[in-house]
Amino acid sequence: NRKHIIINYDLYTMPERRPFVRLPTDVYPVNYGLCLKPDLIDFTFEGKLEAIVKVNLATNQIVMNCADIDIITASFVPEGGEGEGEILLAFFPFFLEINATGFNYQNEDEKVTLSFPSALQKGSGTLKIDFVGELNDKMKGFYRSKYATPAGEIRYAAVTQFEATDARRAFPCWDEPAIKATFDISLIVPKDRVALSNMNVIDRKPHPEDDSLLEVKFATTPIMSTYLVAFVIGEYDFVEGQSSDGVTVRVYTPTGKAEQGKFALEVAVKTLPFYNDYFNVPYPLPKIDLIAIADFAAGAMENWGLVTYRETALLIDPKNSCSSSRQWVALVVGHELAHQWFGNLVTMEWWTHLWLNEGFASWIEYLCVDHCFPDYDIWTQFVSADYTRALDLDALDNSHPIEVNVGHPSEVDEIFDAISYSKGASVIRMLHNYIGDKDFRKGMHSYLLKFQHRNAATEDLWDCLEQASGKPIALVMRSWTKQMGFPIIVVDQEQQGDDRILKISQKKFCASGPHNGEDCPNWMVPISICTGEDPGCTKLKVLLDSPETTITINNISPDQWVKINPGTVGFYRIQYSSAMLEGLLPGIRDLTLLPVDRLGLQNDLFSLSRAGMISTVEVLKLMEAFVNEPNYTVWSDLSCNLGVLSSLLSHTDFHEEIQEFIRDLFTPIGLKLGWECKQGEGHLDALLRGLVLGKLGKAGHKPTLEEARRRFKDHVEGKQILSADLRSPVYLTVLKHGDSATLDTMLKLHKQADMQEEKNRIERVLGAISAPDLIQKVLTFALSEDVRPQDTVSVIGGVAGSSKHGRKAAWKFVKDNWEELHNRYQGGFLISRLIKLSVDGFAIDKMAAEVKSFFESHQAPAAERTVQQCCENILLNAAWLKRDADDIHQYLLKRKAPPV
Ligand code: BES
Ligand code: ZN
Repeated sequence: NRKHIIINYDLYTMPERRPFVRLPTDVYPVNYGLCLKPDLIDFTFEGKLEAIVKVNLATNQIVMNCADIDIITASFVPEGGEGEGEILLAFFPFFLEINATGFNYQNEDEKVTLSFPSALQKGSGTLKIDFVGELNDKMKGFYRSKYATPAGEIRYAAVTQFEATDARRAFPCWDEPAIKATFDISLIVPKDRVALSNMNVIDRKPHPEDDSLLEVKFATTPIMSTYLVAFVIGEYDFVEGQSSDGVTVRVYTPTGKAEQGKFALEVAVKTLPFYNDYFNVPYPLPKIDLIAIADFAAGAMENWGLVTYRETALLIDPKNSCSSSRQWVALVVGHELAHQWFGNLVTMEWWTHLWLNEGFASWIEYLCVDHCFPDYDIWTQFVSADYTRALDLDALDNSHPIEVNVGHPSEVDEIFDAISYSKGASVIRMLHNYIGDKDFRKGMHSYLLKFQHRNAATEDLWDCLEQASGKPIALVMRSWTKQMGFPIIVVDQEQQGDDRILKISQKKFCASGPHNGEDCPNWMVPISICTGEDPGCTKLKVLLDSPETTITINNISPDQWVKINPGTVGFYRIQYSSAMLEGLLPGIRDLTLLPVDRLGLQNDLFSLSRAGMISTVEVLKLMEAFVNEPNYTVWSDLSCNLGVLSSLLSHTDFHEEIQEFIRDLFTPIGLKLGWECKQGEGHLDALLRGLVLGKLGKAGHKPTLEEARRRFKDHVEGKQILSADLRSPVYLTVLKHGDSATLDTMLKLHKQADMQEEKNRIERVLGAISAPDLIQKVLTFALSEDVRPQDTVSVIGGVAGSSKHGRKAAWKFVKDNWEELHNRYQGGFLISRLIKLSVDGFAIDKMAAEVKSFFESHQAPAAERTVQQCCENILLNAAWLKRDADDIHQYLLKRKAPPV
């Protein structure tokens, strides 16, 4: 009596929280002629817009988006129709020009209504607007970015960041992704500055009134969304290449650092033909520029033809950049270039479908890096970086569905989160695995072809993939994108002769334990199964379309283990019966399970322990089975979970015992790796060494601490410069066990550092310092001129994540400086990140209440959901601690006791 699942998606539509209406469609743009003149000294700009618009319905009002801009004049010139109008217009255009008589700003809604004394008639016309604005310092809209010249002089560049809803801060526009138009952009700039925009330059002439200025005109863009428009005016050098499919690629760097653009250029030149081939659709613009911007809120932004990056996401110095930076640059370049097709050529109809952009790009960036750098074993890293992160967040009651109704800009900002990115990428990975690469590509190609230069919604992608594969894609995928959360698959087995009977069922997994009760949601779960005979090979695939089912595996001997979800591709957790789990564990010790499955099993059990479904002691025992582990990513994930546990236990008086556990676990691999890079080692060895030494050093492993101090001294004295890969672990170790002199030395290194990567490396570990007065010094430093505005968050986060005292001090600092911090980021997504980093580690019930009440009186609209998630996490931590602390303590004591 198999019960098929019925999903009532209405249950999951979140209430609309802020009133919001989209722009009226009676007047819409066809082409924006836009000329901007930034003043890099006074931080203002003048703008002239001449937009060709279509009037659908006679009206005497035009409603557009507009924020922080002053309109000086606005008028409408109808295009001459047939007859009289045309003649009039040809000779007396001013005669028909209708001046707007009112500009009614609706600041809350970021809109302006232009009122005209008479009706604009159905047809075409030109809307002319002169306006002025400020080059702000909020890293959004048209803003100023501070940099130092090679001689040390402070100057400013003018740059843009429009996604999601900030093009309206640079010019009045129809700032919605579905309102596409072409753009003719001109910039009036000092003649010694570089001026860039989405398209190539077609004209460059001296300004008629001021010969220190140039007017630079760019080619007409294809039809595109406003959030993808970009311009940059500043001082840059570049390196240039040509992709095999004929696109000119330039990487722009700060002056004097062109060399540092070479790595990204190589990646970009390989990546463009890779996507061209994968999508079987050519890149539609003649050029693409990748540029490093000093002050930059996100990691990077995919503006069509002019991709902007943080310096640390683009610049690589052969000597001073570490392996993880190289990998990060490759991933980010791969991500943003994917958007040139998926996002720019085909754009989401509305922000509800943001995940299409971000989830897809976050998946395919790995495919691209795997293509360019097969030795990175990047797909295993995906599981640790994205998949598990998404499962953790999505297990909360305060998660949200991938497809979520959003309206107001603050709601849009809020969904640039791990659900859109990491869960999005994870369900695409599961889908790709379910469909198979060949049909998946076929479907992607037809989707891009069908919707190019237009907009699409999630269902449109399902349709194309369904066509290509013949599988029920929409039915399966809706269960993953329209309802929040994911299932835990409960498995038990029974041997019957040569057959193994598996009993499989699903329940919603919640961070507080499985969902028990009526109305338990269900998913359409693609399930694959492998056995000990061939751990890398899927023996059986089924689609679980009901709450429970049984599956028979034929011809399997009783001693063979059976594993669900080989490759850790399905987006769910698994709970095995104890017998099945017993059977799997030896596969960890003898490494017969795949690395990705060793990682997945460990991560599942860790999360089950946090949810109270198994004891944390079981997980500690499991972790000890990893002594022979050679794989970087497996260690990295384990290390991360141990970090969570260590942070939890910093609330107890046996914190030192877990440090000892960590030292014991990491010592053998530490000894094996040593400090020196050995012949024939690769990327992953370098990452593993850094991870292990950092872990040992932080946990107070004496030999590691001594060696780190010795090497740090040599480094500071210039006797022996630390290799880039050893710097983070050494800095962390000496700081953790350091004094005020150590901190001063680190701050000096920070000041001297020429590369932003080195500055960030230092900033991220400063919080490791232990003494309370020094922690305070670090927090003050976080808000100083020496830290770029976007990096303040990671300094404060570093303090919060380092110790019990740091956690309290960071939270107090955030409260005390709330005004300044909130104002600095104007709500944006960095404030959410700051909140999460500052409070997620608490494990006392009353802290949840305190955090909640603080944000009731200190509003951060774009961080509302983050605050709820943090409060939930604090309560979960507290429950975990109450439940398991004693057992953990006993176990840690017992393992030290001499055997009787
Ligand atoms: N479209 C985003 C940039 C963005 C992020 C705009 C947040 C507005 C708000 C871009 O494609 C992106 O996803 N950047 C990532 C890096 C990427 C490699 C995950 C980022 O900025 O973190
Ligand atoms: Zn993206």
